[in-house]
Amino acid sequence: MKKNKFAPLLILFLTISSSSCSTSSSDKPYTFTNGDFELGTLSNWTISGDAFNDTCVLISDSNKDKIHVEGNFYLSGESVGNEAVGTLKSTSFKLKGNGKISFLIGGGANPDLVYVSIHKDDTGEEITRISNKFFNHEVPNNRMYRIVVDLKEYIGEQLYVQLNDNDSSNSGYNYIMVDDFEISSSLNEDDGTLLSDARNYTLKYKDTVNDRYRHTYHLMPTIGWMNDPNGFVYYDGYYHLFYQHNPYSPSWDTMYWGHAISKDLIKWTDASIALAPDKSYDKNGVFSGGAVVDGDKMHLLYTAVGETGVQQQALATSFDGVSFTKRNMNPVIDSSMRLNSRITDFRDPYLFVKDDVYYALIGGKLEGEGGQLLLYSSSDLLNWKTIGSIYSSTITGSGMFECPNYAYMDGKDIIITSPQSIRDADKASYQNIHSVTYQIGNLDFENGIFTNDNGVDYMEEFDKGFDFYATQIYQEEDRTIMLAWMNMWSRSYPSAIDGYAGEVTLPRELELKDNHIYQKPIQEIQNYYQNETILNEIECSDNEIKLDVKGDKIHLNVEIDVSNLNGGKAGFKLLQSENESTNIYYDDFLGMVVFDRRNSGVDIDSFDDDGELNVRYARIEPIDNKIKFEIFVDVSSVELFINDGYYTMSGLIFPSEAGKDISFFTEGGSAHLTSGVFHDIEVN
Ligand code: FRU
Repeated sequence: MKKNKFAPLLILFLTISSSSCSTSSSDKPYTFTNGDFELGTLSNWTISGDAFNDTCVLISDSNKDKIHVEGNFYLSGESVGNEAVGTLKSTSFKLKGNGKISFLIGGGANPDLVYVSIHKDDTGEEITRISNKFFNHEVPNNRMYRIVVDLKEYIGEQLYVQLNDNDSSNSGYNYIMVDDFEISSSLNEDDGTLLSDARNYTLKYKDTVNDRYRHTYHLMPTIGWMNDPNGFVYYDGYYHLFYQHNPYSPSWDTMYWGHAISKDLIKWTDASIALAPDKSYDKNGVFSGGAVVDGDKMHLLYTAVGETGVQQQALATSFDGVSFTKRNMNPVIDSSMRLNSRITDFRDPYLFVKDDVYYALIGGKLEGEGGQLLLYSSSDLLNWKTIGSIYSSTITGSGMFECPNYAYMDGKDIIITSPQSIRDADKASYQNIHSVTYQIGNLDFENGIFTNDNGVDYMEEFDKGFDFYATQIYQEEDRTIMLAWMNMWSRSYPSAIDGYAGEVTLPRELELKDNHIYQKPIQEIQNYYQNETILNEIECSDNEIKLDVKGDKIHLNVEIDVSNLNGGKAGFKLLQSENESTNIYYDDFLGMVVFDRRNSGVDIDSFDDDGELNVRYARIEPIDNKIKFEIFVDVSSVELFINDGYYTMSGLIFPSEAGKDISFFTEGGSAHLTSGVFHDIEVN
């Protein structure tokens, strides 16, 4: 991957900040007063000499990204002049937790004269001195880098920080820059082994998985388990997608964040595990969350699950898109901010920026039935304000509202969520164990009030198939891209014995039209189309006609006229062999499109209430008597876009006979294949 040009250095120097905090908010990591300069002045700092005054506290401007400012303000001695000398002393603080202090440092050409020192408060004794070790190290000298200082032998003592500028010469960069002093308060020591162990395990064993069902143009874990896609973002020339991951077995366990990158959303490269559950506050798992890019930084906001199951939101930051530093202020949205969500069901922050403000939309579970969506705002990702619950629902039987997403489309605010356990008597609605829904309306970001255009509780499903959950949205200037976990909870899939489980859908572009969201296959897939074949028109009357195209990595885009179907069925048999096929058809009697995987191959078992197991329905109106099917098959998955993506139906299938034939069939009437195009899809 193309790395940030400073990446090797950064990996070397950006010591992963090792402090953390316990789950109780009173024990939260802290800074001494105005240790982040966010008061905008030097208040609470004691000035002596001439090197520092209020003009040194600068507001970050367009330079912010270049110099790595945290929050809005930082300190730079430059404004006072090169010759000035003096010191700046912080208020005193008690060193707690694992005894680590971290901060950003820049400038300081002469390390003997310009440095940060830390002192005992009672005697003034200097216990350590830190200068800018990155100066002249092939990195910009006016850029700040994070330093972590380990002072564990002083835990419990009262200390202060002092900035020293004793350089009276007039040479360049003989002033100091600093920002964001953070002092940890947790005893938990992170030595990074969980992360490196998991990365090494993957490298060592990835070639042991059996490839027979592996997709070719969908993202899957190299080995082990994947559930929700997380933190979908574009950074430094690549799309980055993270995912819930257990490298050690093809089943859910304590979660890590897997990581993959792609230039075009189709061909993915493993980028190595990004987050491990290695802090006291996330010992029981790094659960789902989102990402934003801020200049050359990428931030991940994820749910940290602590030992008792408590769920809080934590921030991790990267300067190279590969290694992530969990922040000393974690958890940045702690469980005291969960409103009336259960303490163990407050998770899956979706991170986005609107009008220069960061927002996090978080899922919650109410006591009893129902879930809710909670909105928070922040200017710096570290300090968050609760806006409120924008939607709460007590739909009978429903559980937690997981994995919320937000999108702004055509002047409308779109709220997407994955509500657990909603069921409907209508066989074309809410048949899955859990669903993904959207609501269209207007969100008042100040007061946290969402007004649904279609009535308070109205939600629509995106996908009427089997395997579609926990979406991630990424909005570009001119398109909204959505993808999802193509799988479902509480089922057992045959690929598990091959050493892996879980995959991501084909990315889809969303379009809001007539109060409905349409999904289009992402256009980049077209770059992988091969062997284009235009299908001849075919009339089929109570019959089955084999097409002269075949394959198990294919794109088939067809239109059939159903005006003479007379209550019968018309559609396609895919991955067909002597005894097996996956059937997709329009049932004129029901007025529904049907995805039938009962005879697809090896059985998929479910151990929950799973609708009519292995058959799914979507209610569809023919347009001018025609139904359009756009189908993608990738070895063990079928994704169907019906009538230009009015609905999709996604499902996994596990053929045992490796059939590749495709037939057009009708039952009880006739249908006409009016147009069609076929492609092989070849990625490699
Ligand atoms: C949804 C989910 C999330 C949670 C994650 C844990 O599939 O249950 O709510 O963060 O999976 O892996």
